[in-house]
Amino acid sequence: MGLVRILVTGGTRQLGRVVTERLRAAGEEVRVLSRRPGPDVVPGDLRTGRGVDSALAGVDTVVHCATDFRHETALARTLVEAARWTGGPHLVYVSIVGVDRVPLGYYKAKFETEKLIAASGLPYTIQRATQFHALVRTLFAGASRLPVLPVPRVRFQPVDVRDVAPRLADLATGDPAGRVDDFGGPEILAAAELAQAVAEASGRRRKIVSVKVPGETFRAYAEGGHLAPHHLDGRITFAQYLSEQADAGVLGYRKR
Ligand SMILES: NC(=O)c1ccc[n+]([C@@H]2O[C@H](COP(=O)([O-])OP(=O)(O)OC[C@H]3O[C@@H](n4cnc5c(N)ncnc54)[C@H](OP(=O)(O)O)[C@@H]3O)[C@@H](O)[C@H]2O)c1
Repeated sequence: MGLVRILVTGGTRQLGRVVTERLRAAGEEVRVLSRRPGPDVVPGDLRTGRGVDSALAGVDTVVHCATDFRHETALARTLVEAARWTGGPHLVYVSIVGVDRVPLGYYKAKFETEKLIAASGLPYTIQRATQFHALVRTLFAGASRLPVLPVPRVRFQPVDVRDVAPRLADLATGDPAGRVDDFGGPEILAAAELAQAVAEASGRRRKIVSVKVPGETFRAYAEGGHLAPHHLDGRITFAQYLSEQADAGVLGYRKR
């Protein structure tokens, strides 16, 4: 396939940065949209619409990695409307496994956004992924501080953004595919095991207690609505990720 001109929204942070690196390494011409000025960045804001038309000009594909916890659908609406005026590029959207099963506000907004994109008339691809390693680590960061840590009786399937990024790069340079198979991490682990791993990575032993949390959101999590057991795709395990964090001296983690 020839050179594809690609815009990556959210290309300054976790997933989008790795997607951008991957695409550039493959020789693609990539623009990054960011609200803040920086090297190799096209300034723009998907909440106000500032700069979005010019960022989209001449682009064949948009990988939409930008996200806003409270305005997820509004950002996508701005992008879709501008894309319609600028030649109808292929829109690749990153979503989360279980957005249609777990009744969390952010998940509901992501599901709404999937529907908005599917109905937009633009050629599109939607990739859902499970929880990123950094998010799971943050969830259990308290494990390194408290003597006893209560954790919900749920499981997670953490995935590394370095595993998700190549899949997105392939989708971005391929034909629009609609909603594709979920992308999951290599292992499904209990929250208690993950919390223990985070505590151990920081060189401490903590008593982890599994607790049942009431409410429909936790019921959906407990039922595994956010898991993709048939898609153990990623290769980098949570243990490997924590070990790298320890090597890098991040957040007081120590190599054991
Ligand atoms: N984290 C997870 O566990 C997980 C799991 C599965 C799927 N996902 C999905 O993966 C995607 C990427 O997540 P992430 O964790 O990599 O995101 P992130 O690190 O939080 O980055 C968010 C990005 O959104 C951009 N952004 C926010 N508001 C913007 C606006 N108004 N205009 C333009 N850009 C804006 C930011 O760019 P600037 O600050 O440079 O403007 C930033 O680069 C999201 O759609 C998320 O839902 C996440």
